[in-house]
Amino acid sequence: MEHKVTLYNNKQTFMAQENETILEAAIRAGVSVNYGCSSGTCGLCKARLVSGNARDIRTREYVIPEAEKLQGQILTCVCAINDDVIIDAVVTNNVSDIPVQKLNVKVRKVQQLVEEVFRLVVQTPRTNRLRFLAGQYVEIGLEGVGTSRFSIASCPCEDRLIELHLRVSKDDPVSHLVADKMRLGDNIELQGPFGEFVYDENANRPVILFAFDTGFAAIKSLLEHITAQEQELNIHLIWMSCGRDGLYMHNLCRSWTDAFDNFSYTGVTLNESIKQLTENPLNGCAIVEAHIIQAMQDHEDLSCHDIYVSAPAPATKIFEDVCRKKNVLMRRFFSEPVRGNEDMSCMVSMK
Ligand code: FES
Repeated sequence: MEHKVTLYNNKQTFMAQENETILEAAIRAGVSVNYGCSSGTCGLCKARLVSGNARDIRTREYVIPEAEKLQGQILTCVCAINDDVIIDAVVTNNVSDIPVQKLNVKVRKVQQLVEEVFRLVVQTPRTNRLRFLAGQYVEIGLEGVGTSRFSIASCPCEDRLIELHLRVSKDDPVSHLVADKMRLGDNIELQGPFGEFVYDENANRPVILFAFDTGFAAIKSLLEHITAQEQELNIHLIWMSCGRDGLYMHNLCRSWTDAFDNFSYTGVTLNESIKQLTENPLNGCAIVEAHIIQAMQDHEDLSCHDIYVSAPAPATKIFEDVCRKKNVLMRRFFSEPVRGNEDMSCMVSMK
């Protein structure tokens, strides 16, 4: 059975099962309540129970002072509820409030999606989860090999599972080793989160998401976070890539059009390779621009939209120019480079 949790400050609500902690329910719903250890040790998840009842279902080491207990303070990472509650909890959507963490994570899946793109899923320890906001990135380190940075492709609502998309590149030994040698149960050192490419929770405006190649990872994270909150926003996803295999999760995107109201998807496959685009930069830019203009033709006025772009710098600039002509407010235009993909950075030569 589930019950409603209402946040006292912003009246945000989410549902919690009787056998899960309030924190687990909040994470699943994409609500960024404050927490640290998630195991009853640090006290960072402390919140005030304004109405209703909560009970401990996990053990705890942190001791709430008696005076605070009388005020109704609870630990959301150990407490569950049996009826509807109102809690006064600290909610943070600010990247500066989230510390950089260093974790040892375990490989749960290495899946080849297309010839050069792999999906890596790792799991954080139960007692040491990665706290992050959708759209941020992490650094993974392999002993004796080096480090590489990748956008998180999953949403915080996936809890302990972190998904990354790796395009294997000759210049990135980390992606090579993950693709060739990593197997279920292997350990990886993960550090993060980093980056400021996060969703503005207070915006409540139509959203256009533009991804180029594995820039899809950060965009997927944002999209899954937005949809986890069940906001009824108009969302248009445009995903552009080179070659048939570039849209490596095309079917997932198409399934979203069935699953979500007010969601549309435009997949754009360029016939030219990245190499061909960059060999003749002027022509390459013209090709990318023409496809963007076509994908955006139904949007006449973007003055009420929020735009999120994860693409190499030249593609971002072209997308920005198209949006400017449609009255976008530049303070509502957010962009992120494609992480962990050296092939993409060669697009920088396109001016
Ligand atoms: S998150 Fe550390 S005690 Fe709850």
